[in-house]
Amino acid sequence: MGVEVSVEGLTKSFGSQNIWRDVSLTLPSGEVSALLGPSGTGKSVFLKTLIGLLHPEQGSVIIDGTDITKCSSKELYEIRKLFGVLFQDGALFGSMSLYDNIAFPLREHTKKKEDNIRDIVMEKIDLVGLTGAEDKLPGEISGGMRKRAGLARALVLDPEIILCDEPDSGLDPVRTAYISQLLIDINAQIDATILIVTHNINIARTIPDNIGMLFRKELVMFGPREVLLTSEQPVVKQFLSGDRFGPIGMSEEKDEAVQKQEEEMQAAGIGGGGTKDDFSEIIPQVQPNPGQPERKAIERHRQRVHEILHTLPENAQEAIRRSQAEEDQIIAENRKHADKHDLGNGNGNGGNQQQSGGAGEWSTAPAGVAVAGSRSDTTTDVIGQHASDQPTRDWTTPDVSDAQTQPIDTSRFDSDRRDPRSS
Ligand SMILES: Nc1ncnc2c1ncn2[C@@H]1O[C@H](COP(=O)(O)OP(=O)(O)O)[C@@H](O)[C@H]1O
Ligand SMILES: [Mg+2]
Repeated sequence: MGVEVSVEGLTKSFGSQNIWRDVSLTLPSGEVSALLGPSGTGKSVFLKTLIGLLHPEQGSVIIDGTDITKCSSKELYEIRKLFGVLFQDGALFGSMSLYDNIAFPLREHTKKKEDNIRDIVMEKIDLVGLTGAEDKLPGEISGGMRKRAGLARALVLDPEIILCDEPDSGLDPVRTAYISQLLIDINAQIDATILIVTHNINIARTIPDNIGMLFRKELVMFGPREVLLTSEQPVVKQFLSGDRFGPIGMSEEKDEAVQKQEEEMQAAGIGGGGTKDDFSEIIPQVQPNPGQPERKAIERHRQRVHEILHTLPENAQEAIRRSQAEEDQIIAENRKHADKHDLGNGNGNGGNQQQSGGAGEWSTAPAGVAVAGSRSDTTTDVIGQHASDQPTRDWTTPDVSDAQTQPIDTSRFDSDRRDPRSS
């Protein structure tokens, strides 16, 4: 099972510029969490602080019993073996082929032989739909393909904690749905603790078990998705509906004059362009594809939600019950579908079960399978991003089990594979 990450009172500044302060949260083991926030609020900085690439002034990050903000570099090196990281820009080595990029952590951190490395690399390349592109250089492929190559590299050492910095940026809505599904399937297979940094509303609403929101140098909220999705907190509500009107402005903080103007516009019936979705309804969470193991995190997560349910407003409680019932129905349908097509439902078998004949059957999503992003095609703006992500040599584990994950169909990425554009 994935490792819990516990953050307490974390504060980070660069010189006199404070990025965020007093951030406390726990990424529950084996669950998928998402960190949201407007551009420039320090999401990438947070992610890098979690793996000890950046050093906070205050607070602790406890991973597997070790506070990585205070431990020795040797201990940090050991802890980093637990991580697989997809950096915002993929952070691939420009002069290496995709194959060599993905093989890099294995060559660097394990004593595996080249033919063994080849098997693992080709399996991950297949998993992210890049078969045929392994000899290409990062500069010769599209941004979306680079992202997927970065994900493959993050996965080669079967990490217990996976951090993904904007896995969707540079991807179209359909491929975003596929990569989201892939993350859910991976979570089902290896029960890893996953943190996705994103400002994609569809991902936020359909993928994670927990959601956190950074705004104005603080963690506004962190908790079960059900709680944030039904929250009346103005920042959370505005962000999730992608609306212009609310506390978040173009330059993060809105001044009072602008806010007053907007209130007048709203009163006059002028809209802020956000989604018109009904926020009293929670979209059911995306489930693993039929034939994948069921997610072990679901029960643990539901138990936690159950414990706080009575503290929530009545309409939120109802929405949660409805969405859980819908999810149960989707899970049951997936199970039925898997049985009918003999997809070897890996119920509870972790990632070690080889699926026979399953690959190739999912080029279209079967009935009852929720696909992230199916409600609307909103992609969000990436304003003011800076390219400080650098390839780093020691972010993954040298010692991995040889457990192979189930094959997943990759024909879905075919059109991208043939796409010669570079961006
Ligand atoms: N290595 C660095 N040195 C100085 N400032 C940095 C560094 N990395 C990030 N920043 C600053 O921290 C702020 C938050 O950046 P970032 O984490 O990339 O935001 P986000 O990922 O939420 O868009 C920005 O103002 C950025 O300029
Ligand atoms: Mg960022």
